[in-house]
Amino acid sequence: MDLDLSHPTLPDLRARAKRRLPHFAWEYLESGTGEDSAIRRSREALDAVVLAPAVLKGRTEPDLTTTLMGRTYTRPWGVSPVGMTGLFWPGAEITLAQHCVAQGLPFGLSTVAAASVEDLAPHVGDQGWFQLYPPRDMDHCEDLLSRAKAAGFHTLVLTVDVPGPSRRERQRRGGLQTPPRITPRLFLQSVLRPHWSMAVARAGVPSVRGLAKYASPHEPARHVGLAPHAAPDLALFKRLRELWDGPIIAKGVLVPSDAVMLRDLGFDAIWVSNHGGRQFDGAPGSAAALPLVRKALGPDFPVIFDGTVTSGLDVLRAIALGADFVMLGRPWLWGVAAFGARGAAHVTHILTEDMTSGMIQMGITRPAEVRDRLWDQVIG
Ligand SMILES: Cc1cc2nc3c(=O)[nH]c(=O)nc-3n(C[C@H](O)[C@H](O)[C@H](O)COP(=O)(O)O)c2cc1C
Repeated sequence: MDLDLSHPTLPDLRARAKRRLPHFAWEYLESGTGEDSAIRRSREALDAVVLAPAVLKGRTEPDLTTTLMGRTYTRPWGVSPVGMTGLFWPGAEITLAQHCVAQGLPFGLSTVAAASVEDLAPHVGDQGWFQLYPPRDMDHCEDLLSRAKAAGFHTLVLTVDVPGPSRRERQRRGGLQTPPRITPRLFLQSVLRPHWSMAVARAGVPSVRGLAKYASPHEPARHVGLAPHAAPDLALFKRLRELWDGPIIAKGVLVPSDAVMLRDLGFDAIWVSNHGGRQFDGAPGSAAALPLVRKALGPDFPVIFDGTVTSGLDVLRAIALGADFVMLGRPWLWGVAAFGARGAAHVTHILTEDMTSGMIQMGITRPAEVRDRLWDQVIG
């Protein structure tokens, strides 16, 4: 199958993934919280970014390489940490890490992924970012960080926008329980998706392997978003700064004054995100917050962005609004659930072609030049 003809966009991969995943896994992947309004607001804010095409510039040769916090990546995007990634396809974490190594992109591993840092160690190369939901027990937290470091992860991502669980009503309706239980309903949904069921039967039912070591009879390592972890606070950050000698990113920032406070505390980058709309449905679209955060931080401080990015044009829009680097969550799982490793490669292919085409239309060679192509400024 020529994927460029059959699935030329990321939403095409999404449609195939939906057909291959059981309903409960699909709802877990796709849902936000509440009415999914924060997801809609993210999408609307990206759609509202209009860019100016150019004339008589000749043909440009876009160069997508991007340096972030001293490391050079081949393109300005990577894999956002996603909990229970292995639920969407067994081995999805390893498939995505291998893709990132092959393509020179950053790979974010969630604390509550199905695979552990040790599972990733042989595959993650020099591309690993480890996302931390701090375990409540500080000894466990320190142990987890040293395991991540030993496995080769060099950048720490502290998720700061999960002070407590959110309701995730769609997941509940889909039949997911806490702790996860294979009910007759989930079993029936799985039987209707034979490819997925066979893959899971071969690999075993996914669990949060990275935290298994710390589980006790009283506190089993639970499901993503519900795993027992401490709400991140200032004291925790200070301790992390002592424990982690690499860069630390604050993920999940929307309020400009918070971004400034976190920068002044010593974070190395700010990641503007509303957590894929999964934590607080009252939150703004991440793309609506992005230019405000950029303005507050000034032009040079590293800013990472995510939320509803589904094309190379969206990557350009985010950079136009002030991002240095763009991460994607769900689209990678669409790719892997649809076509395995080939699907992950196709995600990068689509983003590369689309972004390159957009840059040629605007007559620019480097991604950051898109900031001079904002329509309002050009005609201003
Ligand atoms: C199924 C799912 C699980 C997620 N789990 C985590 C997580 O464990 N840690 C985290 O920091 N963010 C998590 N996120 C948020 C993503 O890292 C990212 O911020 C979000 O998915 C970006 O939006 P996008 O999916 O529209 O690209 C999760 C998102 C999804 C969809």
